[in-house]
Parts: sequence; C-alpha cells; structure tokens
Amino acid sequence: MGREKIVYVCSECGYEAYKWVGRCPGCGGWTTMAEERVSRATPDKAAGARPPGELTSLNEIEPHAVMRLSTDIAELDRVLGGGIVPGSVILVGGDPGIGKSTLLLQAAIKLVSGGCCVLYVAGEESLEQIKMRADRLCQPGVPLLVLAETEYDRIAAAIAKNSPGVVVIDSIQTIMKSELGSVPGSVVQVREITASLVQLAKTRGTSFFIVGHVTKEGTLAGPRLLEHMVDCVLYFEGDRYQSFRILRSVKNRFGATNEIGIFSMGPCGLDEVQNPSAYFLNQRPQNMAGSTVVPIMEGTRPLLVEIQALVTPSYFGGVPRRTATGLDYNRVAIIIAVLEKRSGLQLANCDIFTNVAGGVKIMEPAADLGVGLSIASSFRDRPLLQETMIVGEIGLTGEVRPVNRIEERLREGAKMGFTRCILPQANLSGNSGSYIKEMEKELKITGISTLAEALDIALI
Ligand code: TYD
Ligand code: MG
Repeated sequence: MGREKIVYVCSECGYEAYKWVGRCPGCGGWTTMAEERVSRATPDKAAGARPPGELTSLNEIEPHAVMRLSTDIAELDRVLGGGIVPGSVILVGGDPGIGKSTLLLQAAIKLVSGGCCVLYVAGEESLEQIKMRADRLCQPGVPLLVLAETEYDRIAAAIAKNSPGVVVIDSIQTIMKSELGSVPGSVVQVREITASLVQLAKTRGTSFFIVGHVTKEGTLAGPRLLEHMVDCVLYFEGDRYQSFRILRSVKNRFGATNEIGIFSMGPCGLDEVQNPSAYFLNQRPQNMAGSTVVPIMEGTRPLLVEIQALVTPSYFGGVPRRTATGLDYNRVAIIIAVLEKRSGLQLANCDIFTNVAGGVKIMEPAADLGVGLSIASSFRDRPLLQETMIVGEIGLTGEVRPVNRIEERLREGAKMGFTRCILPQANLSGNSGSYIKEMEKELKITGISTLAEALDIALI
C-alpha cells in the first residue's frame, strides 16, 4: 500500500527534507528545494533478493563471461566498452537538436537488423515523426517496435508483453508515473522512473538507453543522483553549426571512461568518422602564423587537432580582450602570463583570441605548449616549422613538463604524415625513451626543457 506525503527535494542533488529550507543542506544550493508530492510503496520483498544477513565469500562467486551485444556502429560500441552489456542502463545526455534521437534510432535499427528485438519508446515525438526520421536515415522497413507513450505503467506492460532485448526511452523527462502526482520531468518523477527502469533492467536482463535532457550549464537535468543510478553515462556533444559530433563516456561500469566516438551529421543521419585526425586537419592553413598542430588524447585515442591564435593590438585605452574557444580560459591566461614573464613577449596591450579548429574541446595540459607557440607565432607573425607537431605541459617557471602516452601521440602524428615533433626533454629519458629512439626513423624528434627554447626552435 502506498502512502502520500509532501517532501521538499533539491533539484540539484536530490536531497530530501520534510520542511522547506532556503538552502539545501546537501549541496548548499540556494532556493533549489521544490515541493513534491510522493506516494511511497512499502518496500517490495521481490523475488531474487537474498535473505538479509546471508554473506558470500568473494572466491565462491563464479564469474560468467558477459556477452556484449554489438550495435554495429563501431564508434558507439567503442564508447560502450565493446558493445551493450545485457541488463545495463545507459543514459545519453546532450543539448537539444544535437542528434540523440537520431543516434539511438540508428542504433535501434541496426540492432533490429542484427536480429535483436528492440522497443523504441517515444515520449516526445509521434509515430509518424519517427517513421519520417527512419525514412530520412534511408532505412527500409525494419521490424522495430515503436510506442508513443509517456505513462510508465503502460511502457512496463509493453516490455513485459514483448520482452525486447533493448529498450530506448526518449526521453526520461517526458515519462511519468501518475500515482506520484508531480509533473513529468520533476526530480521525483525522473528519479523514481529511473529507479524502476534500473530494477527492470536488472531483473529482466533488458538493456535500456535513456535519453536525458541537459540544463543550460551542460549537466544532465534532474538530480545528480541519476548519474549514480545508471551503469553508463554518455554525453553527445558538438557544435550545432558544425557537422561533427562527439559521443563521450563520463561513467562506464563496464569499460573505460573518457572514451570517445566521433560522428558527423549528414543528410542521411550520423556517419562514423574513421580517421578523426584527418577530419580535423583537413582545412588547416599552410604556412600561416598562429597555427600549431597538437596530438591530444581523448580517452585511449590520439587525435591531432589544430590550435589557432590571433594576437592583435588592443584599441587604444581599451581593456585587452582574451578569448579561449575549446580551451580552458584559465590555462590560456597562465600561458599568456608565462610568455610575458619568462619569454619577454609584450602581450599586455594585445587582444588574444585562441581557438581549437573544428569545435573540439581540449582539457589536457599537454596542449599548453601548442597554445603558447600559437600565440607567440601570431604575435611575431612567424609561422611554425612545416609538418611539425607540438606537445608539452607548461609550468609557471616556463619549464616544459613531460606528458603521458607519448608513444600513441607520436604514432598518430607519423600516420598523418608529420615529419617532426617538438616534445618535452623529460619524455626522452622516461620509460618511453627507447620507443622514441625507434620512432626517430619516421619523425625528427626534438626535446626541449623550456618554453623559451621551444620558441627558438619552432618559429621560422
Ligand atoms: P535529433 O536527433 O532530433 O536531436 P535530439 O534528439 O538530440 O534533440 O536531431 C535533430 C537534428 O539533426 C536536426 O537539426 C536535423 C538534424 N538531422 C540531420 O542533419 N540529418 C538527419 O539525417 C537527421 C535525421 C537529422
Ligand atoms: Mg530527441
């Protein structure tokens, strides 16, 4: 039997209080507590639960091999850690219009073509709209089960009736349990429905893809708790005005995190990008000041990206403007300060605009040296050495620190036809020293220890 009561739930962290408070005791957020009417069912002594107190020794548990289900989209499989684990719940977040529904419909169609029974639950679109999208994806009729429904109980009944192997819920914010009383998308609804779906997944072995909206700040709408409840959290990102999209895993109980899959949105849906470095470098200007190529790591994957800088005099008396698109603004500020103080570049009266071409976002300090050299190159109006890539982290005293996974970065550069790499001296004597010696057959490798040294060598 259920009992109804009123609780106040924090929209940020999901903290529950029985009285309204101005500041959430859980996360400290102000005016985030919202009234919710909840009816709580008494805990279900469900079948399969172990009797309380029964313990198992770790060495008695028989491991069983997990058969992953391939989606036949290599980039999606890679992000999931090799395919869908049966009974897992995968949350896919992203800005509106970025392509979440397209990606999941494509994956669903591929899974159906591979013989899997898939149910696509559309809470936002009508059946006709889904059909139109499937036609646009140039997919002939496949027996994909579709359901336009927002009531949880009916969705659960459809799952029980058809026993699909994979269910797509598009989106969690539109599904509701009417007995909870609150509106769809509210913290209580989202949390309760996710909990029910997780339970369904674990008891039936069905895998769920759940689409989640993101807030203005770019995090998944609803309590943070949601991310803890599911097995995988994927973010679908990209610039809406560019065709390329990155699917990023930020949590994965069955694989590596920070793994990325790269797609490009075309007239017939999403295409996988097989060679992302070529994709990002294809419009690189040759022999221009202010452009460097940096090998960054995205998860376990090396990517070559172009960092651009433009340094111009500030308007007389104006405050110099500094922008960082695709880079961490604070890191760029530090690099500018180091260039001024340690290399004597007079940047105080300059506007400095930095950008990562193609709309990629770089969080790695390994791109510091590339940023520094791009700025210096634009400031001095001298291009960098041809076919040279740059990697290294800059410290506050102007020293260049070693970076990790140098082998993969060098290999990707050589594959893309680069002939030279400027990298931290410390990497040459580290564990990968012998590998680097080997790579010297393909690339001219120059070790440097300070930013000033890099400026002397790299600029023509
Ligand atoms: P959609 O999957 O509806 O985004 P989301 O579910 O994340 O809100 O994607 C919609 C956008 O993708 C829309 O702007 C049109 C574009 N699009 C294409 O460019 N090509 C296609 O083949 C499809 C299906 C969509
Ligand atoms: Mg959608």
